[in-house]
Amino acid sequence: MNNFFHSPVMLYILAVLLVLVFFLPDLIGPVPAILCGAAVIGFAFYIYNLWCREEPGAADRKNRARGDEYGSGEAANDQIKPYKKLEKPMLLELLRKRRSIRKFTGQKIEEEKLDILIEAALRSPSSRGLNPWEFVVVTDSETIGELARSKTHGSSFLAGAPLAIVVCADPAKSDVWIEDTSIASLLLHLCAADLGLGSCWIQIRKRQHDEKTGSETYVKNILGLKPDMTVEAIVAIGYSAEEKPGRGDDTLLYERISYEKYGNRR
Ligand SMILES: Cc1cc2nc3c(=O)[nH]c(=O)nc-3n(C[C@H](O)[C@H](O)[C@H](O)COP(=O)(O)O)c2cc1C
Repeated sequence: MNNFFHSPVMLYILAVLLVLVFFLPDLIGPVPAILCGAAVIGFAFYIYNLWCREEPGAADRKNRARGDEYGSGEAANDQIKPYKKLEKPMLLELLRKRRSIRKFTGQKIEEEKLDILIEAALRSPSSRGLNPWEFVVVTDSETIGELARSKTHGSSFLAGAPLAIVVCADPAKSDVWIEDTSIASLLLHLCAADLGLGSCWIQIRKRQHDEKTGSETYVKNILGLKPDMTVEAIVAIGYSAEEKPGRGDDTLLYERISYEKYGNRR
């Protein structure tokens, strides 16, 4: 709309308004003059709409050339991949910014955001809709501190998070519970990013707490899980205390993509 007031159409409207104000009422009377004015302004808006209409992706290319948050700042060119020509695909925008966050401010997660995270997890797709997962939401700092010692490496940062969501499953409910719990864990990670929160996956399945005890057993004991349950991961969530830029286009492994037959590249 800002453009509109700087456009030639605005000059046109002003000129027409001047004519209307000074001459038309005398010529055709005040009511027809007002109707004429409305028609002229409506027509101007219609012209403006046509004038502003851009080919699909033009706005994106402009954004990319400007280097704003949606683009990477490279010059607009015809080599841009087709999906990048879409107008603001929101998930891709989120994925471009997403990173694993391991440093958190002390700020607690609001109940509303927690509810959204839980809803996102429960909306996870699962094989045959069997939903074999269960989630344990932990906000108690003492318990979080214990969970942070689940592994010898890669879990200690959890101690600084205000929220841990432990993604568990009952393997008897589905033979592909690993896939199902992984999807749920990823959705929690993405939903956290969408809510302006940082998060990181902590792998528990097949990891060791120490030489004798597996991470799963350790977590199960802390949370009092049933013996036949398993633990896939813990998702640490909080307000980010670190700045991490999204991964650049140059890091994407396009050489891993084949077309029609393995090894055919573009
Ligand atoms: C299956 C899986 C397990 C992971 N386990 C851990 C973990 O135990 N500890 C950790 O700090 N990060 C873990 N991560 C996060 C990865 O280290 C991270 O995604 C990777 O380094 C890429 O960084 P980025 O997410 O910032 O792009 C895990 C990620 C996945 C997908």
